[in-house]
Amino acid sequence: MNAASPIAARRSGSLRGAVRVPGDKSISHRALIFGALAVGATRITGLLEGEDVIHTADAMRALGAAVERTGEGEWSVHGVGVAGFRQPRAVLDFGNSGTGCRLVMGAVAGCPVTATFDGDASLRKRPMRRILDPVELMGARAVSAADGGRLPITLAGARDPIPVIYRTPVASAQIKSAVLLAGLAAPGETTVIESEASRDHTERLLAHFGADVRVEAEGGGRRITLKGEPELHPAAVAVPADPSSAAFPMVAALIVPGAEVVLTDVMTNPLRTGLIATLREMGADIATLGRRSDGGEETADLRVRASALRGVEVPPERAPSMIDEYPVLAVAASFAEGTTVMRGLKELRVKESDRLAAVADGLRANGVDAEIDGDDLIVRGKGQPTGGGTVITHMDHRIAMAFLVMGLASAKPVGVDDVSFIATSFPGYVPMLRGLGGDLG
Ligand code: S3P
Repeated sequence: MNAASPIAARRSGSLRGAVRVPGDKSISHRALIFGALAVGATRITGLLEGEDVIHTADAMRALGAAVERTGEGEWSVHGVGVAGFRQPRAVLDFGNSGTGCRLVMGAVAGCPVTATFDGDASLRKRPMRRILDPVELMGARAVSAADGGRLPITLAGARDPIPVIYRTPVASAQIKSAVLLAGLAAPGETTVIESEASRDHTERLLAHFGADVRVEAEGGGRRITLKGEPELHPAAVAVPADPSSAAFPMVAALIVPGAEVVLTDVMTNPLRTGLIATLREMGADIATLGRRSDGGEETADLRVRASALRGVEVPPERAPSMIDEYPVLAVAASFAEGTTVMRGLKELRVKESDRLAAVADGLRANGVDAEIDGDDLIVRGKGQPTGGGTVITHMDHRIAMAFLVMGLASAKPVGVDDVSFIATSFPGYVPMLRGLGGDLG
């Protein structure tokens, strides 16, 4: 990772233009991993070429797949087949990426190879027991792990993986995906039960690659059943624009007076659109211009106009559908009139940083009345924050991006101590905001 690189955002004239943000991060990781587990050549277009996804591409190569960049966002993957990974020669380094690391742990758990997983200082702090617990039930073994089940971890995959019925302890697509990936190599059916539905890109892509996956409603959540030992067939994947990245110019367009921005080709999978629903409840003018269906995912162009926002209460059950969007929602809330209460944010404490603390600190550093109450975040908006503070990003791309948005419309500039981690998920973020008319430097 590059040396820390500070920057500030200043009050800007109205933002204008159309933007296609980079490809969806969740789908990009999965397209590479499923391509590596299919026999034959998978072609991917629109892949997010951020550092997180590049680490996953490197891991797939280290595990025996042939992964090649053929053009901008265009990649081809020649896979090795289910359970076909070879023994990697070096440590698998996932950088800042929890998704890449946890999904590949699941895939390795079903193969008779031993691999060491590692990452940067942020990833080394994040909980990995949530993956080790289910994959150990399936026959894999953590040969070594740092204190608390953290990275670096050496995982010995199962020679004969055992199918399980696993109830995830938290609504996490990463845990669900790791179990399903390990279950690919197990005979019989592997089942994951989640009490609240998390993003379903793994289920959709598994079906797209030819696996037999059944999804049923159960309680308020879902039961997902995968038939093991399928032959995965290579499949073309067109990666739509990432709604979690579109969230930043979306909120920027809402808070900068006179702004009008169109975000094109944004994935509108209902398990990812909690932010749009919340912003609309706050009074946001977000119009859906056209809907398309591409490669099993719905997309739309979204026209966003500057809007007077009001505080709302965001229920805890909405969290899985907008888990990565709370930092920028908190920024939107600081421009609203009235109090926004965001409930049930426990999982935010174990993201790239403790996002609950990082967001509250960043808001307060910029004169916003913000409070953490248990697992809830309360922001008392007064129309326009003062700004003038410098935000500590704690190696977290979304903290950096969210507070740069704040600076575009706060009374005084907002500084962030380090924008280098933005490259993990959104290469070209600062030039994109400048292209819309944002004043950053
Ligand atoms: C992701 C799942 C979410 C999300 C992350 C991407 C995925 O994490 O925060 O950015 O691609 O599966 P959890 O499943 O752990 O909540």
